[in-house]
Amino acid sequence: MTIIAARDSAIDSEGRRDLDDIMTIMEDAFEPRFGEGWSRSQCSGILGDAHSWVTISRENDEPAGFALSRMIVDEAELLLIAVRPAFRGKGIGRELLQRVCGTAADRGAKRLHLEVREGNAAANLYHAMGFEKIGRRRNYYSGGNGERFDAITLALQIDRDSP
Ligand SMILES: CC(C)(COP(=O)(O)OP(=O)(O)OC[C@H]1O[C@@H](n2cnc3c(N)ncnc32)[C@H](O)[C@@H]1OP(=O)(O)O)[C@@H](O)C(=O)NCCC(=O)NCCS
Repeated sequence: MTIIAARDSAIDSEGRRDLDDIMTIMEDAFEPRFGEGWSRSQCSGILGDAHSWVTISRENDEPAGFALSRMIVDEAELLLIAVRPAFRGKGIGRELLQRVCGTAADRGAKRLHLEVREGNAAANLYHAMGFEKIGRRRNYYSGGNGERFDAITLALQIDRDSP
């Protein structure tokens, strides 16, 4: 059974478990050569930010995937989304993203935006959900061996008042 829970970021006892689970997923899901994954201290920092929140998917109590997001005024940003390889292709990534959209809209966001490394297959998920390209950031990611990769900026209108 898959359980997806969203909660405000906070380092309480539950938050610490979240951080452990996030790092388990992070280490499994991201290839170090692309420089997309975050360190434990980066995650701990963002979890302590009142404007951020984490959405975690656990399957039979095992960490399967997470999404890390934050509000910036009336816009939401998806900072990271990841599903462990063993749990991929089952709709968990899509459900995490749908939950992020719902929580962002509840918090008053009109748009959700994100950056994705050019060539990352995750872009298929974003396009399937209606995200559109709005820009490019050159050399945004720096990989393990010093290689640089562009980021594509995507955005989705999530304003509940829009048609
Ligand atoms: C991107 C990621 C989160 C997708 O998770 P997932 O649980 O496998 O995604 P879903 O099963 O919900 O897929 C939903 C849709 O996304 C698309 N999709 C997801 N992964 C894809 C891939 N590798 N190639 C092509 N399309 C893909 C498909 O359109 C799919 O729809 P379908 O099932 O009808 O074919 C996962 O591959 C991952 O963790 N990647 C590594 C981390 C990463 O790069 N994150 C993004 C940058 S922060």
